[in-house]
Amino acid sequence: MTTSIGTPLPRVDGHLKVTGQARYAAEFNQQGQAYAVIVGSTAGLGRIEAIDAASVERMPGVVAVISHLNAQRLPYDAYRGAIDPPAGERLHVLQDAEVRFFGQPVAIVVAETLDQAEYAANALKITYAIQPPAVDAHSADKVVPETARRPGSRVHADIERGDATAALQAAPVKVDLEYVIQRENHNPMEPHATVAAWNGDRLTLWSKSQFVVNEQAEIAAVFGIPPENVEVICPFIGGAFGTSLRTWPHVTLAALAARHVNRPVKLVLTRKQMFFTTGHRPYTIQRMAIGATTDGKLTSIIHEGSGETSRYEEFMEALTAVTSFTYSCPNVRTSYRLIPLDTSTPTYMRGPGEASGVHAMECAMDELAYKLNMDPLELRRINEPSKDEGRNVPFSSRSMLKCYDIGAERFGWNRRTPEPRSMRDGRLLIGYGMATASYPCLFAPANARVRLMPDGTAEVEAAASDMGPGTYTSMTQVASDFLGLPVERVKFALGRSNFPATPPHGGSMTMASVGSAVRAACLEAQEKAMAAAARDGSPLSGLQPDHLEWRGGALFVKGRDQAGLSYQEIAASSGAPIFGEGSAARDAETASGYSMHAFGAVFAEVGIDPDVATIRVRRIVGAYGAGKVVNPRLAASQCTGGMIGGIGMAIMERTVLDRRNGRPVNAHLADYLVPVNLDTPQLEAHFVDEEDTLVNPLGVKGLGEIALVGVSPAVANAIYHATGNRVHELPIMIENLL
Ligand code: MOS
Repeated sequence: MTTSIGTPLPRVDGHLKVTGQARYAAEFNQQGQAYAVIVGSTAGLGRIEAIDAASVERMPGVVAVISHLNAQRLPYDAYRGAIDPPAGERLHVLQDAEVRFFGQPVAIVVAETLDQAEYAANALKITYAIQPPAVDAHSADKVVPETARRPGSRVHADIERGDATAALQAAPVKVDLEYVIQRENHNPMEPHATVAAWNGDRLTLWSKSQFVVNEQAEIAAVFGIPPENVEVICPFIGGAFGTSLRTWPHVTLAALAARHVNRPVKLVLTRKQMFFTTGHRPYTIQRMAIGATTDGKLTSIIHEGSGETSRYEEFMEALTAVTSFTYSCPNVRTSYRLIPLDTSTPTYMRGPGEASGVHAMECAMDELAYKLNMDPLELRRINEPSKDEGRNVPFSSRSMLKCYDIGAERFGWNRRTPEPRSMRDGRLLIGYGMATASYPCLFAPANARVRLMPDGTAEVEAAASDMGPGTYTSMTQVASDFLGLPVERVKFALGRSNFPATPPHGGSMTMASVGSAVRAACLEAQEKAMAAAARDGSPLSGLQPDHLEWRGGALFVKGRDQAGLSYQEIAASSGAPIFGEGSAARDAETASGYSMHAFGAVFAEVGIDPDVATIRVRRIVGAYGAGKVVNPRLAASQCTGGMIGGIGMAIMERTVLDRRNGRPVNAHLADYLVPVNLDTPQLEAHFVDEEDTLVNPLGVKGLGEIALVGVSPAVANAIYHATGNRVHELPIMIENLL
């Protein structure tokens, strides 16, 4: 039997995408649909005093102007999804006159056409009683998160082993630094979009979502209706990076508007509105202090992290999580504080927490290496731990040293001359930098089902999403292998809330969780097919399962080549599809007994103009120990995407807020810079052969996040090497280097 896992199968949905047949949320136009446009607050904090709806209602095509003055009162029943902040309460949209942040939806205009709705929305006059919002993280108070005090929280307020403060004081060589990472907004190509249609008390949402079952549950709770009355459909996603994990207010607004005007409503956010209420990577301020002996053994790490949140919810990310186990060190103290500001709630953005925390740690390690007069890679090697010293458990697998070796070799690290400003290409200053990366192997319970059809095909379903990594393709490969059917005969469907429930399509856990569920469903279908085949009248009747075996999608008597029965024959003779259902969950003992992470080493080369300080990333090489690679073509593509996101984080992306009113001043792609083709150099990912039988039945670790983690410090360290200039803030811009 040929295996499909491990082969570079091209995307099974590639043809649909390049021919424009893949349908995205905004393309599900409905009969009689009206268009809704959100009006965002132009005050950063305060109260709505008056809304002049009457003059707008008379405009051509306008169907309704909806605000807190006339919107349906929504019950907002208690509901907290896996992705929602554990403390605080979500924004209740159009339910009162309060304005909590700039851009908060304060009204919706519904009209016959999009143009009419936009025109009227722009004309709507709203007056506010304005207060000055607090949006500067540096002058705001830091608080201990309520979330971190709860048992079982993944993020802790304070942890310490040994005595890090005393050890730092005593250390002969040390660095003590502050890192600032500015707010970033996810800017996927596809904007948030929802088409909402009510049929009596049943609601259908064609809506961009990385987590359709959560959107179903959340909207049901908001409207106080049973979840089975809500169906969420999202077969394709044009990138998301975390912004579509939560169900943001526009989904409620689309459903609310559709009910208000009693017809289907389409609501698409503008690029500008993507900066208001759909999450962002929080602004962070981190102190990172590392002490070492003169020969480079770490003796102390102190990591004090803080990140912004909104005033109404506590968003926490794993900012300080990796600090306790990346290197061997007897004295480690981490702390995490929140900085509540008058902004919307931040959310997960690719590599959430780790990307920011690792940036601080890996830049500080580079500075320490220079103080020690030691190769930065060597400093990492000599502090390689033999177990997770934070939890005092072994790693399920850790190929860090191999990643350093392979990455360094492929990159040509040995060509590096350590002195800053010592490498040139023509007039350009050249810099080489590196960093360590890691991301946990997350896993959450998932379900899937399979139907073996009488025509010899298999239909596999799970509620999952595919925001670009290739879920359609990789799940097809898994099903193909565990059914023993060629990939052409497997049809995998996803993105419907009435499919078997799956966890958020985020945290790099889709392959592990959904993949394991698909595997389980296929194995069950296979068992059922075997039972069906052993029925009376079949050539295999009367034979026990242990006398039979599957080969290439057909059932044979063990050791014999004749009288194989294909799925097709089995299903056809039973006259109905054969069903298999599967679920996957992580064994609690394994989870508590092992530390499970993907690891990587990232190497970057930059070229910097010595006169005008333009920064170009010229090359990135990453080497990863990420468990089994299901599809090398997709995996390479994932890593390329993560590296590009990392380049954005390192030298381009930041959302700047006007301190007077909290307005994102660069809420458009002319001034919010993301890497384009010219910014995207030669990118290379290498995967270490890794057999990890503990993480999950497939042995996969997940790639989505780790591909971004470590890129920004590798680039920042390369910029130092090129220029001799340490910049402790991201993004690093021309003006920082002049
Ligand atoms: Mo990713 S931030 O988990 O969508």
